[in-house]
Amino acid sequence: MKFFIDTANLSDIQEAYDLGVLDGVTTNPSLMAKEGISGDEKVKAHYKAICDIVDDNVSAEVIATDFDNMVKEGMELAKLDDKIVVKIPMIKEGVKAIKYFTSEGIRTNCTLIFSAGQALLAAKAGASYVSPFIGRLDDIAFDGMDLIDQIVGIYGNYGFDTEVLAASVRHTMHLIQCAEVGADVATCPLSVITGLLNHPLTDKGLAQFLADHKKANS
Ligand code: G3P
Repeated sequence: MKFFIDTANLSDIQEAYDLGVLDGVTTNPSLMAKEGISGDEKVKAHYKAICDIVDDNVSAEVIATDFDNMVKEGMELAKLDDKIVVKIPMIKEGVKAIKYFTSEGIRTNCTLIFSAGQALLAAKAGASYVSPFIGRLDDIAFDGMDLIDQIVGIYGNYGFDTEVLAASVRHTMHLIQCAEVGADVATCPLSVITGLLNHPLTDKGLAQFLADHKKANS
C-alpha cells in the first residue's frame, strides 16, 4: 500500500519524506487555506515547493466547478510539474473533465467519493485515483471502511486501473484496516504515519537492551 501525506505543510511533508516511506502528497483547498496559502501565484509556487520535496504524486485540486474552467485550471496545474495529479470533485462536470484529462494523458484524482456508484463512474471516466473519505462517513454513522472494501471488490471484478486512495484517514487503525481490505493508497496526516511506530513493548524492550548493554560494559 502506498502512503501519501494529506497536508500542505512543507515541514510535515519533508519529515514524512525523510522517514523514507512517502509515496505522494494530497492537498485540498481547506489544507492550503490552513497553511495561509492564497492567490493564484502563491498557490502554484506552493505546489512547486511540494513537488521539489517528493518523488511523485502531488494531488492539486481545481476550484472551478464547470467543465471549461476545470480543464483550464487543471491544465495550468499539470504544467507546473510532471508530478502533479489533477484533483477533481465528483460532480457531473468533473466526470467530463476526468475523461478529458485521461485522453490528454494527464493523471487525475477524483475526490469527495462517498458511494460505490461514484467510484464506478470515476473509474469509467479513467481516473487514476479515487478518494473515498472514510472518516467523514464514520462521522455520520456509516462505515467508511465498508466503502473501501466495496470499491476494491468492484475494481477487482473488472480490472480497472483506477487506484483506490483511501482519504479522510484519521487514525492508525484506519490505516491498518485499509491495508487489510487492499486499498492501493492511504492518505493521512503525519501523526497517523508516525503513530504506526508506537508500541510500549518496543520501548520497554529497548530500555532493557540498553540497560543490559550498559551493565555488561561498565
Ligand atoms: O483527504 C481528505 C481529507 O483531507 C479530509 O480529511 O479529516 O477533514 O475528513 P478530514
